[in-house]
Amino acid sequence: MQPHEALVRVEAAGLNHAETLIRSGTYVVRLPFPYPLGGEGAGVVVEAGADAAVAAGTRVCWGAVLGSCATLLTAPASLLVPIPDSLTFEDAACVAVAGLTAGGLARVWPLHGRTAVIWGAAGAVGRMLVAILAEQGTDVIGIAGGARVEEVRAAGAACAIDRSSQDVREAVRVHTGGRGADAVFDPIGAPTCAISLDLLAPRGCLIHYGELAGVPPAVDLHQLFAKSLFVTKYNGSRWIHGIDEFAGLIGNALALAATRRAVIARIADRFPLDQAADAYRMLESGAPGKVLVLPNA
Ligand SMILES: NC(=O)c1ccc[n+]([C@@H]2O[C@H](COP(=O)([O-])OP(=O)(O)OC[C@H]3O[C@@H](n4cnc5c(N)ncnc54)[C@H](OP(=O)(O)O)[C@@H]3O)[C@@H](O)[C@H]2O)c1
Repeated sequence: MQPHEALVRVEAAGLNHAETLIRSGTYVVRLPFPYPLGGEGAGVVVEAGADAAVAAGTRVCWGAVLGSCATLLTAPASLLVPIPDSLTFEDAACVAVAGLTAGGLARVWPLHGRTAVIWGAAGAVGRMLVAILAEQGTDVIGIAGGARVEEVRAAGAACAIDRSSQDVREAVRVHTGGRGADAVFDPIGAPTCAISLDLLAPRGCLIHYGELAGVPPAVDLHQLFAKSLFVTKYNGSRWIHGIDEFAGLIGNALALAATRRAVIARIADRFPLDQAADAYRMLESGAPGKVLVLPNA
């Protein structure tokens, strides 16, 4: 262990869709095989290096530390964020990457007093983004499937659309008085891209940040002409300036979760470490909620 590192006993590791994309070998982010599984988790500091600003016994969580699906993990201490007393390890493992991602996404487009549509708004990132934007004074329209629209409202959305029973275009048109939204946050990809462009107001921005249901089609610039639209593919490293900012963004999300539990993703299931492969299969199956591996259960 290096002086700036700490050894952590991992109590809960959160799985993320990006891991599936990276493992496929076809994603823009590539890692040399083999590499250790997991990037997010929560646990207890067992031992701290001489220069690590975290004490043994502290409950912490983190995002972006490879090898989080393990009983013990060595991590840079600067990436370990103290967990508020009112949150469990499982809560924190649901919040870390979602908070980091939503915190970065919220920087992309000026939305105070304006309207944003969020697909997958009951998902881990989606509900956190709903809450952050709503707190910043954005009129948030969240899209979810079935009864999960209630969770989107609880997270802070002014309007929640049930994509399984409502016409999304019509519902957004009605809520915005026909104008459309100033931004659409789309982590779905192939099936939603064209709809997302339709949902935008003139000079609105489509922010793509995931490919849950397949790679989005190439955008023809002529498609953007009528409304003079903007389109961006979110890359966190261009919006979050170095890992020094990670702890602050995750800390903000934990504070939000401590006061509003609705921002914490539902847990789809929990798996012991020796069933991690089944946990990843469940993630890939599109299970509604966060999949956790509990290495020391
Ligand atoms: N770029 C980054 O830095 C970054 C970081 C983290 C995550 N992400 C991406 O963000 C996305 C969400 O991650 P997450 O952890 O929040 O996932 P999640 O908790 O599984 O939530 C995803 C939500 O998407 C909705 N959904 C699934 N298929 C859909 C479809 N065909 N059409 C419309 N909605 C659909 C589902 O909700 P309903 O069925 O209720 O609609 C689901 O709750 C993923 O694509 C992930 O890769 C990106």
